[in-house]
Amino acid sequence: MIAARFKKIFEPTRIGQMQLKNRIVMPPTGTNYAEKGGAIGQRTLDYYEARARGGVGLIIVEGSAPDPQRTVLYQASLGDDNLIPRWQKVTDAAHKYDARIAIQIMHSTIENWDGKAVQVGPSPVIVPARFMGTPGNPPHELTEQEIAERIGSFAAAARRARLRALMGWRFTVLTSTLSPPFSPQPPTSAKISTAAQSRTRQDFWWR
Ligand SMILES: Cc1cc2nc3c(=O)[nH]c(=O)nc-3n(C[C@H](O)[C@H](O)[C@H](O)COP(=O)(O)O)c2cc1C
Repeated sequence: MIAARFKKIFEPTRIGQMQLKNRIVMPPTGTNYAEKGGAIGQRTLDYYEARARGGVGLIIVEGSAPDPQRTVLYQASLGDDNLIPRWQKVTDAAHKYDARIAIQIMHSTIENWDGKAVQVGPSPVIVPARFMGTPGNPPHELTEQEIAERIGSFAAAARRARLRALMGWRFTVLTSTLSPPFSPQPPTSAKISTAAQSRTRQDFWWR
């Protein structure tokens, strides 16, 4: 009945060279199902497999940390080669149901510095009504060098997603999550995009 009423949603389509079996897209939705250190476990695998089995045409995996040291607890990560074989299982589970899968690479604004959670940002501005971080405390103001390191992490994470056939990528702009009130800062976002694309390909989506 739903299929008859919303016929168009169930029709195939393309994004670039990527063929989708329908127009149902699951947006990135953080689960905090990962293990400590950002590894994917059975719970995450089951979660995404269930969505693929349910008929989603394109799954965009939750915002995953470009660096496991620069993450909130239990956030999934693409930050180390050792973490990638388990991501491959998620990809395989999606493909089993002819779903396509992409991943969002996302810095959460919180980093783990010697066991301590530290919020970082491009400027030491307190965010009102902050839903993450340490209320009332200004974030650590990243230096140019520190920002460059984080851009490098984004690029490396994009390369891992590409190598392991996560079928596309979408990044959350570093500064959109680092800067209050989440407004992207074009120069840094452009640098992330350029760095990530240099490690992958422009037409990443088709894989
Ligand atoms: C629990 C939860 C986790 C989310 N995690 C992410 C995330 O990791 N990355 C992101 O870009 N958006 C995230 N979102 C936003 C969703 O992807 C989506 O854009 C939002 O729920 C609005 O979609 P809707 O209009 O279909 O409800 C999250 C939303 C919820 C409720």
